Amino acid sequence: MTPDEQKKAAALAALDHVADGMKVGLGTGSTANHFIDALGARVRQGLKVICVPTSIASRQRAAALGIPLATLEEEPSLDVTVDGADEILPRGLVLIKGGGGALTREKIVAASSRKMVVIADASKLMTAQTFGRFPLPVEILPFGARATIRKIKAAIDSLGMSGEIIVRQTGGKDFITDNGGLIADCHLGHITRPTELADALIRIPGVVEQGLFTSIATVALVATGDGVETITP
Ligand code: A5P
Repeated sequence: MTPDEQKKAAALAALDHVADGMKVGLGTGSTANHFIDALGARVRQGLKVICVPTSIASRQRAAALGIPLATLEEEPSLDVTVDGADEILPRGLVLIKGGGGALTREKIVAASSRKMVVIADASKLMTAQTFGRFPLPVEILPFGARATIRKIKAAIDSLGMSGEIIVRQTGGKDFITDNGGLIADCHLGHITRPTELADALIRIPGVVEQGLFTSIATVALVATGDGVETITP
């Protein structure tokens, strides 16, 4: 199976976590897109759901498929959110998210759900030795961005980690999130203390949200060549 076929297999497996009448959070990214497409097909067959998207892009995709949508203001309590991840550490189901820049809304929506189902291809599965190769995205306010980044660097250093912090660019300009924020990508190479790092980053003024998801995911469905593996914390 190619990585894209694996993403699709994981997305199809996530349909088992959706039942008639549920309120469903829709993630962001290429894996979540497969889930949105598959859910759209079920809706056309008669499945009744109301969905809350985690980004403008996912909202547009779901709307085009005729999926009934609401905002989190309208539906503040959801049954399940299905979303991708950039890295998954099986022990404790710790995630890195935000490769698409949607981490803040993704975390708010997942935290408003009874369950978060993570869907991924096998390349996202890490070990304690490899976790953190993907640059950790941190959403920050544009105001005082340089000062905020200095504090992020100091927090990382104080926990015995290090690495370059780069403000994400797209087409030669700063990447701007759906919330009007910037993304500071922290190239750490290896994250040894994810919970402490998450706690330290979120305390910094100017940090809107950080991309480590700890104690949020309920289950991960990871597709490999041998089928879809179910991982719980
Ligand atoms: C979006 O901001 C991210 O959190 C995505 O869920 C993550 O980057 C995974 O994306 P893919 O499914 O495209 O790999």
